[in-house]
Order: sequence, then C-alpha cells, then structure tokens
Amino acid sequence: MVEFKNVSKTFADTGEVVFRDLSFQVKDGEFVLLTGESGVGKTTVLRLLLKELEPDSGRIWVAERDISGIPYAEVPYYRRNFGVMFQDHRLLPNENCYQNIELARIVTGGKTKDSPRKIGSLMKLLGIENYYKRLPNELSGGEQAKVCLARALVNNPQVLIADEPTANLDPRSSEEFLKLLLLIHSGVHIKTTIIVATHDAILKGCDQAREIPLEH
Ligand SMILES: Nc1ncnc2c1ncn2[C@@H]1O[C@H](COP(=O)(O)OP(=O)(O)O)[C@@H](O)[C@H]1O
Ligand SMILES: [Mg+2]
Repeated sequence: MVEFKNVSKTFADTGEVVFRDLSFQVKDGEFVLLTGESGVGKTTVLRLLLKELEPDSGRIWVAERDISGIPYAEVPYYRRNFGVMFQDHRLLPNENCYQNIELARIVTGGKTKDSPRKIGSLMKLLGIENYYKRLPNELSGGEQAKVCLARALVNNPQVLIADEPTANLDPRSSEEFLKLLLLIHSGVHIKTTIIVATHDAILKGCDQAREIPLEH
C-alpha cells in the first residue's frame, strides 16, 4: 500500500537532515506505528506521504504509484486516499460535532444526500452518537479524539493516518481510543490500512500493530 525507498529529507532553511535513506513498507490492511522520540521525523514522514513536502531523494509509492509523478493539480484528489487526524485536532470551534464531520465529508467530495445516515452510523460505531449537537469545547479530550476519528473516516479512506492521536489523553482514554483503532482495523467500517505516529506506550503495547521505529 505504502512504500518508502531510500527517502532522504533535509529542510533547506535550517539545513537539518531529518533522515537519510529511510525505507519501509506498509501492506494493504496493515496497522503500523511509526515510533521514535520527539524530533526523529514521524510527522515529516506523514507530510511526505500527503505530499505536503517533497523528498530530496528516494521514492515513495502509494497503491503502486510513484507519487512524485502526481501533478500539482491532482494532489487534492490524491489526498482523498487518506483520512487524516492531525496532532492539533483542528476541529472548528463554532460548528457542532455533526457539522464538523459533515464539512469534512463535503470538502473531500462525499455525496451529501446520504450524509445523515452515513455520519449517524459512523458516530454510533465510535460511541459518539449523543454528541451531535455539542461544540468541540463541550467535549473531553478523549471525546474530541473520537470526533476527529469519525471525521477522518467519513469518506471511507483507504489509509487512516493519525499523528500522535493520544498525546493529550489520559491512559484510560488512550486505551479506549486504541480499541476503536482496532475496531476500524478489523474492517467493521471498511477495510482500512492504519498508520499512526506515536510514542505512547499504550499504543506501542498493542500486539496487532507492527512498529516501524525511526532513528536519528
Ligand atoms: N518545516 C520545517 N522546517 C525546518 N525544520 C523542520 C520542519 N519541520 C520539522 N523540522 C525538523 O525536523 C525534525 C523532525 O521533525 P518532526 O517530523 O516533526 O519529528 P517528530 O514528529 O518525530 O517529532 C525536527 O528536528 C524538526 O525540528
Ligand atoms: Mg510529530
């Protein structure tokens, strides 16, 4: 599903080498954790995958396609392969939970006609069906993470990407969130490949996830 081959990335402005010759593969339907201490390049890997950044050298394939060849105008469509959970949540503060999820559905080209049914069943699956009308700041961190997960999944992406999704959660909420990732991975929603950047011991303790450690 995803392959990095000898990928190197240096930030031109700072001259900082993030990694050199990074290679790894993620198979279709796999659940992997990109791990390593802060600053090791986890977020950079995710940004390269989303084509928010370009590598200095090396190749990245997604669904058998070398993504360096994707023209600029096609990048927004390319990104529809992914459902993304950002580290800073980015929920719209003045829109309720349902609207936050619905907006993501519209922006990423989902059909609006069957949105209520689709969003309703996804919220139920993730146990947030009682929060339709609540604003993000009326939810706990763990509940917000679930809304972000629903938002990332709303258009059935092939790959779910999450950047430190449990960074601000207490251990119990992290456990609960991991259970939801496993539920999604089991294919109850749709078959989804999952890539999570994390240094959370709770996620790292999960037997079903394969760790891809990044090193300086
Ligand atoms: N846009 C940027 N410009 C310059 N340096 C950056 C930029 N983004 C990240 N870095 C640097 O690259 C390294 C890896 O960052 P990052 O991928 O965010 O690590 P992680 O997510 O593992 O904490 C860090 O040293 C960081 O300071
Ligand atoms: Mg990071």
